[in-house]
Amino acid sequence: MEISAPQFVTDWKTGVVTGTEVQGVERRVSDLGGVFADEGAFSQLRPDRLVYRTACVFPVPEGTEGGVFWGTTFIEPGTVGAEYFMTKGHFHAKADRMEAYFTFGGTGLLVLMDTARNCWAEEMTPGSTHLIPPYTAHRTVNTGDDVFSFGACWPSDAGHDYDSIAESGFSARALRVDGIPRLVPA
Ligand code: 6PG
Ligand code: NI
Repeated sequence: MEISAPQFVTDWKTGVVTGTEVQGVERRVSDLGGVFADEGAFSQLRPDRLVYRTACVFPVPEGTEGGVFWGTTFIEPGTVGAEYFMTKGHFHAKADRMEAYFTFGGTGLLVLMDTARNCWAEEMTPGSTHLIPPYTAHRTVNTGDDVFSFGACWPSDAGHDYDSIAESGFSARALRVDGIPRLVPA
């Protein structure tokens, strides 16, 4: 019986995925209009400055029931005014689909919001593991001075609902207050 090499390798310190095809998105300042509260500070940033990127493994087509996707998100350090660099955030299009997050490097926050717009946050540090409940929007925030990287594993039929967040946002924002991350009502 054959023993094969692993399908691919995830570096547990950095989150870098090697040994297979990875696909991802890059989100630059120019892709994130309307996401951050301080529009004046936002307009001062170089439009091509990278805020975050993903490197994902998609073993089955998007929308397949019963499959899983795997990927790392890398968020650059930075702020827009007092607000830390963060992802756009989303509900899943199939909103009952859960997701697992696990931190590789850096420090951050996982900001969560239920459908009644109750918002809370969990600290993310290397090894921290987070099971995002069904019907819960999720956004990640880099609160440190280094690249913040975390892994995600989610159902291949979950999809993304960005429109709800684009319309109404999260009900709280992660801000640096006196040098410390705080979750503040939006
Ligand atoms: C997902 C994951 C995750 C997420 C990235 C970027 O459902 O695919 O939550 O891979 O997409 O961290 O965040 P945004 O999708 O909110 O830009
Ligand atoms: Ni998700």
